[in-house]
Amino acid sequence: MGDKIIELKNISKQFPGVLANDNINLEIDKGEIHAIIGENGAGKSTLMNTLYGLFEPTSGEIYIDGNKVRFLSPLDAIKHKIGMVHQHFMLVPSFTVAENIVLGIEPRKNKLFINKDEAIKITEDLSKTYGLYVDPRQKVETISVGIQQRIEILKVLHKGADILILDEPTAVLTPQETQELFSIVRNLVDNLGKTVIIITHKLQEVLQLSDRVSVMRQGKMIGTLNTKEANEQILAEMMVGREVLFDKLERKEVPHKEILKVQNIKAKDNRGLMIIKDISLNLKSGEVLGIAGIEGNGQSELIEVLTGLRSLEDGDIIVNDVSLINSTPKEIRNASIAHVPEDRLAMGLSKDASIYENILMGSQYNEEYTKIKIQLNNKKIKKRAKDLIKKFDIRTPSEDVLIGNLSGGNMQKVVIAREFSFNTEILIIAQPTRGVDIGAIEFIHEQIIEKRNQGAAILLVSADLDEIFRLSDRILTIYEGRITGEFKQGDITKKEIGLYMTGRNKSELGGGIGEEING
Ligand SMILES: Nc1ncnc2c1ncn2[C@@H]1O[C@H](COP(=O)(O)OP(=O)(O)O)[C@@H](O)[C@H]1O
Ligand SMILES: [Mg+2]
Repeated sequence: MGDKIIELKNISKQFPGVLANDNINLEIDKGEIHAIIGENGAGKSTLMNTLYGLFEPTSGEIYIDGNKVRFLSPLDAIKHKIGMVHQHFMLVPSFTVAENIVLGIEPRKNKLFINKDEAIKITEDLSKTYGLYVDPRQKVETISVGIQQRIEILKVLHKGADILILDEPTAVLTPQETQELFSIVRNLVDNLGKTVIIITHKLQEVLQLSDRVSVMRQGKMIGTLNTKEANEQILAEMMVGREVLFDKLERKEVPHKEILKVQNIKAKDNRGLMIIKDISLNLKSGEVLGIAGIEGNGQSELIEVLTGLRSLEDGDIIVNDVSLINSTPKEIRNASIAHVPEDRLAMGLSKDASIYENILMGSQYNEEYTKIKIQLNNKKIKKRAKDLIKKFDIRTPSEDVLIGNLSGGNMQKVVIAREFSFNTEILIIAQPTRGVDIGAIEFIHEQIIEKRNQGAAILLVSADLDEIFRLSDRILTIYEGRITGEFKQGDITKKEIGLYMTGRNKSELGGGIGEEING
């Protein structure tokens, strides 16, 4: 380490209306793992796409090994041994692994035909050299996301890359797959002389894997640190540009009483296939019950049946000894269930209405407000909106601002403010912090735990395993429409949970690959 292999000098990239990269300087050392972090839209992908020759910078210079270069396409970048694995894979599903790996530089039998045996041999050799196991003859469409990513990496290595850029590689992976990827990356750097640039927004991953870390915010490079000298607090503050308080989330001992019972339910998805095959669970006051699973295993439909948005094929849902079968969403709300939906704009909010109108939704039937509305006096409603804006830290100049003009984090706070202020016994919360910045995530997590401490029964569905671990008292794993495991907080690691989320179990956890993240 120590030799500068890449230097980006004063790189700017202007898109129509957006200065995505603003005068950026960045140096990458040979043989390091360099993390680039920043919130959504900070300009990370733009910067790396520029280094990969996909965009020409509006201004600025790129140096490789001290020589100025100009890349007109990725072909130029790969000539300088730079390769990139994009966030969305670019494999051909109907091709085999070997065919995908040699795609574009296929070995030929004569001028016309691809030499398939040679492609398989190339793949096997690559696989051996880099310690990345793949089956060359398997069709890509039958392969898991984690292995598809390996194929992308092998493909880039086959083109001769010494510098690998990975754009948010862990976003699509289970905890096991993430740890496997990290071992692969470490091996490429420590034993095979490669240099890796990895984009992520997960701070724990940065701290675990990288040698150095550069932080971007709103198109600017904020700074580069040795990872050893960084911690979550420092990085979070560089990312959001203000203090982020990581509170400890104090859990109080609260008496438990069973409130919600789900008994052997079955339900179909929109295509008419049975997506919930058999789910039973119970939810108690004063607990957060987390549902961990890979998206598409029935968790969205579970929430829909619980909130009256989807009908049951079989089984029963019982709240305080009363069956909810055949209840409308409104009756369910009256039965004391509030709902933070997974898609705040499709289901939770009306974009073209003001904050105060959105906060009122769902309370229209509340007598106190109806009476006032009839008198055409919005004073009380606005007062309530103002109070909630303050309590839920919604950053806005006034309650009259249209929802569509707020940031994702502030929109989410409006949904949470409204649903939490109904003071229902049960809260069903889906993906509460998706697309929300770190500062707002902290705030939302605190609000959820405060509700729990006040005795609410909370069902939490999240694709973010860190979130599930942080908030839950109990965790259920869901796989293909069934509950595959139940765990008390502290009794299970993320790595183990990952197994249950893919339909396997703890007995399959041999000597581990890589380290556990935590938890
Ligand atoms: N091809 C493009 N055309 C126009 N705007 C773009 C394009 N790519 C990215 N942007 C904008 O540039 C900004 C930075 O985006 P991006 O580099 O993708 O951020 P990040 O990868 O950090 O999430 C965003 O505001 C985004 O909307
Ligand atoms: Mg990106």
